[in-house]
Amino acid sequence: MVVKSAVRWGVRHGLAQVAIKKGARSGDPHGRLVLGGSDIDPHPIYDEMRARGPVTMGAFAMVTARHGVITDILKSDDFAAGLPLEALPRPIAAAGRWALDEQNPGPVEPPSLLVINGVDHMRLRKLVSRAFTARAVDALGTDIENVAGALLDRLEREHPGGGRADLVHSYAHALPVQIIAKILGVPVSMQDTFLRWGDDLASSIDIGVGFKQFRRSEQALRSLNAWLRQHCAELRRNPGDDLLSRVVLAGESDDSELTDAELIALAGLVLAAGFETTVNLIGNGAVLMFEHPEQREILRSDPSLWRNAVEEVLRFDSPVQNTARHAVRDTTVAGIPIRQNVLIALMLAGANRDPEVFANPHTFDVTRANAKDHLSFSAGPHYCLGAALARMEGEIGLRMLFERFPDLRADGPAQRRPTRLLHGWASVPVRLGSTVSTPA
Ligand code: HEM
Repeated sequence: MVVKSAVRWGVRHGLAQVAIKKGARSGDPHGRLVLGGSDIDPHPIYDEMRARGPVTMGAFAMVTARHGVITDILKSDDFAAGLPLEALPRPIAAAGRWALDEQNPGPVEPPSLLVINGVDHMRLRKLVSRAFTARAVDALGTDIENVAGALLDRLEREHPGGGRADLVHSYAHALPVQIIAKILGVPVSMQDTFLRWGDDLASSIDIGVGFKQFRRSEQALRSLNAWLRQHCAELRRNPGDDLLSRVVLAGESDDSELTDAELIALAGLVLAAGFETTVNLIGNGAVLMFEHPEQREILRSDPSLWRNAVEEVLRFDSPVQNTARHAVRDTTVAGIPIRQNVLIALMLAGANRDPEVFANPHTFDVTRANAKDHLSFSAGPHYCLGAALARMEGEIGLRMLFERFPDLRADGPAQRRPTRLLHGWASVPVRLGSTVSTPA
């Protein structure tokens, strides 16, 4: 149904595209940020947004890059996640409703946890939280070490003499996808297919994407959902000891009425959120180490600092750059009136360089005492459910990489991923150098 797809694109991206172009022409920083694509350094624009005021009017939404304001909005009952159709002008909302593909809701459409609110959100989140308890995540530590170790062994084998490799393809992508496969109880043989679906899906999370790209992401979504539907049906019949099976069982044990649509949306979100973000954490971390050899030296002499270094990577080069909220009633933010249904873009990555919170915010410092105060995992009721897992993957993944290849260095220019909201590297060419074998 190309017509319905075109309407969905128009409502989600087309209208925004027009506003962004108009805004960018008149100098609006948000418009320039969006049009600038993924290759520009966004931080001078975030600085400009912060300097303009606590919340300013952008091309198609209000926007803020201040740490305190973003934290308040994320924790406030006056704001909710997502942008319901009812919040749009009536004819656009009607067109959006007519074109809905209820069988294939996307990662930022209900019933995705990311955009539902109130009691529905609490009910679903409680079910998944049980599967992500500290114990369940801790138990994955050994798996992460084993997967990282096996990937490093393979790198060594395939590049004797420490030759050239692509760090993203061979390591940063492969580690989280294998861990997520384990969490969801899916065969590792699906890894490449997941990566393809994930990349296609990720491309449509940005605002104002082109129609061709949008169509590709809808196709990926349909394939992913079809696969998840049969996978979840199998888990209901025959649960394993993976986290997703635990969610299914938790839903059945207390009559929480986890519908198939909710389960599939949840599995899809965990799948996409689980590796499309963590790959960026590992890739961004590696590139920062190449750019800051003195920080790498600090970590070499005190490896216990890797935990804090990961927080600093998350702060300095945020894998998720922004999110958004809409006002559920007329309210004020930092004294500025905000009307009901107004959308506010929250620049998490901008908050992470707010000089009110971080001294010398543009300096990368693995010993920074308050690095953990970043907003890279958001805040409030939608705080990232996978934060503990991502932190562990980042710490183990980066530490083991630089311990195994102490002379690892960049070998040619790295290439950014085309996505803006998900911010990371598509390719990082490296020379592996000498190897330090790890004790068996
Ligand atoms: C470096 C890695 C990661 C980053 C930077 C990240 C970032 C985020 C952010 C910013 C949000 C909240 C968005 C908002 O408030 O609108 C979020 C939510 C979420 N994340 Fe992550 N994430 C990461 C890894 C993971 C992993 C590994 C998983 C699962 C295995 C995961 C699962 C989720 C889920 C299920 C939510 C929705 C929570 C809710 O809405 O209640 N994330 N993540």
